[in-house]
Amino acid sequence: MAASFKELILCLFFMTSVVLFIPAYSLSKKFTTSYFDEAFSRLYGDQNLIVLKEGKSVRISLDEHTGCGFKSRSTYQYAFFSTSVKLPAANYTAGVVVTFYTSNGDVYKDSHDELDFEFLGHANNGSWVLQTNLYGNGSIGRGREERYSLPFDPSENFHNYSILWTEKTTVFYVDYVPIRVTQKVEAMAGDYPSKPMSLYATIWNGSDWATGGGKYKVDYAYAPFVSQYSNFVLQACSNSDCDDSLTTEERNKMKEFRSKYVTYSYCVDSKRYPIPLPECKNDSF
Ligand SMILES: *[C@@H]1O[C@H](CO)[C@@H](O)[C@H](O)[C@H]1NC(C)=O
Ligand SMILES: *[C@@H]1O[C@H](CO)[C@@H](O)[C@H](O)[C@H]1NC(C)=O
Ligand SMILES: *[C@@H]1O[C@H](CO)[C@@H](O)[C@H](O)[C@H]1NC(C)=O
Ligand SMILES: *[C@@H]1O[C@H](CO)[C@@H](O)[C@H](O)[C@H]1NC(C)=O
Ligand SMILES: *[C@@H]1O[C@H](CO)[C@@H](O)[C@H](O)[C@H]1NC(C)=O
Repeated sequence: MAASFKELILCLFFMTSVVLFIPAYSLSKKFTTSYFDEAFSRLYGDQNLIVLKEGKSVRISLDEHTGCGFKSRSTYQYAFFSTSVKLPAANYTAGVVVTFYTSNGDVYKDSHDELDFEFLGHANNGSWVLQTNLYGNGSIGRGREERYSLPFDPSENFHNYSILWTEKTTVFYVDYVPIRVTQKVEAMAGDYPSKPMSLYATIWNGSDWATGGGKYKVDYAYAPFVSQYSNFVLQACSNSDCDDSLTTEERNKMKEFRSKYVTYSYCVDSKRYPIPLPECKNDSF
């Protein structure tokens, strides 16, 4: 009697453990984080870049003199990228663009690939807008933008933004919740990014488009606009498994996120794309 009770408890214990270790958030356990100096070099606006916490964190700012940016030392062909970001906490950030993205535009002028997280500033105590985008082989005439509001104020705390890019799937995550999945379909041809890319982070004056379509400009009375990054993860798929399949829990979380926070998607913009781009029917819509 006692033994079987113990077994029952053990059994319950293992059942609970199994549930807890379902890999919905297993992404966060596979990471090795990099130090700023080993992973990145400075791109521009050197005087506005401050390395903190022995290189575990970096602060970049935009002021009336310059923006700032940094770039990975290596290039990656299919990888997992992640960083924690805390956005500028001013009452007015219109025109300010903060980014975390991959590109090879420095190498391929007319046929570049790109995957974007872009944060667009707000006028008058509003909310930051998150935008994601994807280009392949110079497909700049076919923007694949999505925009989102966020379930938190991204200037108040650090949150994690990640990109998993494999040969056939690209997943964007916010706090390890997938928010966008783009599956490569044959009809996309070169539009799906496939060449090695570097990882970038920048802050810049995007006054001509970022806020209200360019209606609200940067106001340097609120400068410096300071963005902080930490927990850098740059993991080539060849060095780790890049499992791009989502668990049921991840799919459910994505569905929930998308039902609440997607404010724009190119896939349902029939004015711009009377015939939706080919991956749209397979995407997360
Ligand atoms: C926003 O404005 C209020 C009132 O002027 C001020 O108290 C607060 O410090 C401002 N916030 C920031 C982040 O500058
Ligand atoms: C932001 O809000 C604060 C207090 O709520 C206010 O004093 C300030 O004027 C606002 N700033 C802008 C740019 O609207
Ligand atoms: C972001 O990721 C770091 C490193 O994995 C983790 O310690 C932190 O709790 C995460 N933050 C959020 C808001 O998920
Ligand atoms: C990429 O674009 C170039 C022209 O810039 C074109 O010649 C090539 O066929 C394209 N590649 C793919 C895979 O579509
Ligand atoms: C910011 O960008 C706008 C639009 O491109 C431009 O008119 C303005 O001069 C820029 N401001 C500074 C200080 O660079």
